[in-house]
Amino acid sequence: MPVSKLNFMSIISTNNLSKEYPSKSFSKEKILALNNFSFEVESGEIFGILGPNGAGKTTLIKILLGITHRTKGDIKIFDKDIADESYKMKVGYLPENHKFPNYLTGEQTLMFFGKLSGMNSKDADARTAEYLKLVDMEKWKKTKIKKYSKGMLQRLGLAQSMMNNPELIFLDEPTDGVDPIGRKEIRDILINLKSSGKTIFLNSHLLSEVELICDRVAILNKGVLVKTGRVEDITAVTNDYKFMTSDLDENTLNLLLSKYKAVIKSRNEFLYNSPDTEEMNKMIDFLRGNNILIQSIVREKDTLENMFINLIEKQN
Ligand SMILES: Nc1ncnc2c1ncn2[C@@H]1O[C@H](COP(=O)(O)OP(=O)(O)OP(=O)(O)O)[C@@H](O)[C@H]1O
Ligand SMILES: [Mg+2]
Repeated sequence: MPVSKLNFMSIISTNNLSKEYPSKSFSKEKILALNNFSFEVESGEIFGILGPNGAGKTTLIKILLGITHRTKGDIKIFDKDIADESYKMKVGYLPENHKFPNYLTGEQTLMFFGKLSGMNSKDADARTAEYLKLVDMEKWKKTKIKKYSKGMLQRLGLAQSMMNNPELIFLDEPTDGVDPIGRKEIRDILINLKSSGKTIFLNSHLLSEVELICDRVAILNKGVLVKTGRVEDITAVTNDYKFMTSDLDENTLNLLLSKYKAVIKSRNEFLYNSPDTEEMNKMIDFLRGNNILIQSIVREKDTLENMFINLIEKQN
């Protein structure tokens, strides 16, 4: 077996997966929520499915979990067709818009899910303590969850998805509705889980989030796989260069604006769109000729968000 195969075992793979829902009214056509979708998730990675509302992200997770059935196509999880349900012992799931009974405390909720997955009280107790700690919810464990913020509920949800110590965790919009600090906390938990060897599959429409933590992503639109790859490979470099310089005088600023069409950010920062190396060097000569010190020149990368919007707009 080649070395790459050993290092990057495929944990999930689909081949020409399609899902058709019946139409909502007689006159309408069936809804093709997934259309010949083929992809792979490798062991130990954080994989993100991105897509606008209605793209088919939740449908995909539900099919992978056996909650909804495929119309056609092959699906393997841990190298076996999902018709063999034994894989379910090794997966965790945080549903979209989950609702736990709000009269339970955080601790009672985790105990409930622990027992639901077949643990005895002692094991469920130990896991509850371990995961409350991991998601930093120990101090809230005796508080009823009706008092929890959205961020706390999502952290508890993450702990719930791990109660059976799964190898593979499915998270449907784990940071939806959570404020920036809460999102950072969730990202840290996911990075922590990844470093303990878990594989994480998540759905999101928060692209900046995904960019920060996912190793690879797939972009889904209207059930079709539009693009897949490593985040750094699919966000192309641009011809925009960010210059950091010593203070620019009025004359230089005016020339930068009129002659070089630069975008001035401040007295010592501007963006310049350089068509080629020759023009870039002319810009450097111009600045140096005016006794400007160049502190740095950084080529800007397109954000995942820009790339995503361009791709989806092209498709619509
Ligand atoms: N049970 C169902 N019956 C009929 N149509 C459905 C059903 N569930 C989803 N759909 C349709 O399938 C398509 C994909 O929906 P899905 O919920 O998978 O999208 P999503 O990418 O998760 O969207 P969101 O970002 O809003 O969560 C949509 O057109 C939706 O209306
Ligand atoms: Mg969804």
